[in-house]
Amino acid sequence: MKTILSLVGARPQFIKLAALSPVLRREFKEIIVHTGQHYDYKMSGLFFQELHIPEPDFNLEVGSASAISQIARMLVSLEEVVSRVRPDCMVVFGDTNSTLAGALVATKLGIPLAHVEAGLRAFDKTIPEETNRLVTDVLSDYFFCPTASAVELLRKEGVTKNVYNVGDVMIDLNVRFEAEIKDNRSALDRFGVRPNEYYFATCHRASNTEDTGRLIQIINALVALDKPVIFPVHPRTRKALEALGMEYLLNSGSVLVSDPLPYIATQSLIFHAAGVLTDSGGITKEAYYYRKHGVVFDTKVEWVETVQEGWNQLTGADTAAILKAVREWQEPSFHSQCVGKGQASEAIVGILKSAL
Ligand code: UD1
Repeated sequence: MKTILSLVGARPQFIKLAALSPVLRREFKEIIVHTGQHYDYKMSGLFFQELHIPEPDFNLEVGSASAISQIARMLVSLEEVVSRVRPDCMVVFGDTNSTLAGALVATKLGIPLAHVEAGLRAFDKTIPEETNRLVTDVLSDYFFCPTASAVELLRKEGVTKNVYNVGDVMIDLNVRFEAEIKDNRSALDRFGVRPNEYYFATCHRASNTEDTGRLIQIINALVALDKPVIFPVHPRTRKALEALGMEYLLNSGSVLVSDPLPYIATQSLIFHAAGVLTDSGGITKEAYYYRKHGVVFDTKVEWVETVQEGWNQLTGADTAAILKAVREWQEPSFHSQCVGKGQASEAIVGILKSAL
């Protein structure tokens, strides 16, 4: 049996691994390596438990640092592990620092590299994730694209070999847990809200949390909305607010703040929300999947179809624009389900099985 090394490190990658891993294990021996980029229980261990992801075989425990130091630590530790395991293929997910480290180590050690969520571009190299995905796609051997536009972007870069539009693996989980997500009301009860009578918001991108002006614009919009806002706060955002002495903003209006939430609770809160406000790529497409209005605190998004179809709107970090978008949005008549229908993991494993 061939061996695949799955490399993860940050919260959205645990969710993607939860989708792929059980399918992968039907055909391959899987070795899971966790870089330790995310380490808080609520950002990491909780997801392994809740989504029944097997314990990682290796944890590199790199922790937090500047991006360069973090990647450097990953490279050194990962080289050791990959040299020892010598997998037949390494699978990396998305666009985090862990993804980039995995791509470099696999390539330097001559291990075939498969990129899940290939081909996404924001055309802005100041976004940390953009450089991660650009380098990863230059080095990859197998490109598992989540959308048709991702395939097209790779084609424009001259990449056409081993490029597959498989849909988004995160949607596989939305489908797998559909009943629990729809029926679970405990998350709503915890916040004392009823379906369609609240908004769900998140904010964690460096461009928003490390720019005081932008962060204030976003928080000001949340506190001014016409319904309660459930706002699970990423550790990065909490630290930014604390450093600025801005926690008081969170106690004004009807913002219901919490620690990071588990997977099913988050999905239920998105599913039952009147609308979603976020800078997360994952939540942007989940809101789209559930046919919710999504306001994105950014001027670009990788999930272009969701904006073209009118489900997501780009407002930037601008209080007035955010409030206007929420007030004036009309539900579009068209929804192409462009992020896939929940078969991505099956497709990926089928392709790898015949290729390796
Ligand atoms: C990373 C990814 C981002 C992804 C996000 C999901 C990169 C460049 N970015 O961003 O694409 O959307 O994960 O959450 O890889 N922290 C903790 N505890 C943790 C993890 C982080 O307190 O368990 C704090 C630390 O102060 C750390 C900061 O959050 O410095 C940022 O963490 P980091 O992993 O560098 O980036 P994210 O913002 O989480």
